[in-house]
Amino acid sequence: MVPVNSPLFNGNEKKYLNECIDTGWVSSEGPFVKRFENDMAQYVGRRFATACANGSAAIDIAVKALGLKKGDEVIMPSFTIISCAQSLVTQGLIPVFVDSHFDTFNMIVDDIEASITPKTKAIMIVHIFGLTVDVDPILRIAKKFNLKIIEDAAEMHGQEYKQKKCGSFGDISLFSFYPNKQITTGEGGMVLTDSVELDTKAKELRNLCFTANRFVHEELGWNYRMTNMQAALGVAQLEEIEAIVEKKRYIGNVYNALLKDIDVINLPIAKKDYCENIYWVYAITLKNRCSKTAKEVMEELGELKIGTRPFFYPMHKQPVFKKMGLFLDDYLPNSELLYEKGFYIPSGIALTMAQMEEVSDAMHKVLI
Ligand SMILES: Cc1ncc(COP(=O)(O)O)c(C=O)c1O
Repeated sequence: MVPVNSPLFNGNEKKYLNECIDTGWVSSEGPFVKRFENDMAQYVGRRFATACANGSAAIDIAVKALGLKKGDEVIMPSFTIISCAQSLVTQGLIPVFVDSHFDTFNMIVDDIEASITPKTKAIMIVHIFGLTVDVDPILRIAKKFNLKIIEDAAEMHGQEYKQKKCGSFGDISLFSFYPNKQITTGEGGMVLTDSVELDTKAKELRNLCFTANRFVHEELGWNYRMTNMQAALGVAQLEEIEAIVEKKRYIGNVYNALLKDIDVINLPIAKKDYCENIYWVYAITLKNRCSKTAKEVMEELGELKIGTRPFFYPMHKQPVFKKMGLFLDDYLPNSELLYEKGFYIPSGIALTMAQMEEVSDAMHKVLI
């Protein structure tokens, strides 16, 4: 089987993990946590960072740190992972979904202003699959309407928008370090900001809102701490980031060349004027003239031992939200079509040339 992803540990991972075992520092109190936070903040170009348990936890922290009030509206794409919408809904906030471009997979910035109401208090930017959202117009809208910005850069380590690192935009931003990401800590996440107040809040929320008066709590948070062992892995992985980003783009370019003659599929866009695709995943959509559905193509590729994953099921269609009586009238055609037509193929950094050729051969068998 060519797996859809497998991580690569080529650097100091074992050495740093051994240090955790040898010193006994395995909890979140260990020194690698601070070091990983400092390294990430410096890499991304932010003042502060808070390491936490996973990317979904990072969204919870980022959203809550902003101090929005129950019933406030947050504009976000429907075409994303449940973590983004779940965080808002469970905190009593109202997601307002905008549709996404069929070719970049990212939110349609031109649709944002029409979704703004007096209750709108924030916009959640989520970069999807490898190209960034067009950030500048969103920053202008946020300024005009006095809205907060959360930047979900979970998939974007090393990616840049107009030569500026993803994770450096808006009031507060976040990453995931799940093993399918550019760099991994097994499970892990991080919240970044330039604001002392938001940073203080994020660190309180990560740690159950303990106060100086221990075991006396003024507010509720979570135990979303990252362990020293996770952070040790993160420090070692971040040391390799340049090579990892290069490998990601290499994989994308190899697939672009290998698959370009399959005329029933759209290959991912290689470049926009504001960013170059980092191919977090190599995401493909089927053209209308393709006689097969994405589900059928994924099944047939599976029979040929090629791992695939479907695209996100849009947030406004989620049964869990329908059962809550939410988003009943939403219709966002591109987000719905992306789920029907899209899938991604093996894209992890451990992928070999032989494996990419195997994937390409299988794709040709199934789609030509
Ligand atoms: C855009 C986006 N946000 C958030 C997350 C959640 O991260 P985690 O799986 O670490 O909770 C993911 C996970 O892939 C993601 O793709």
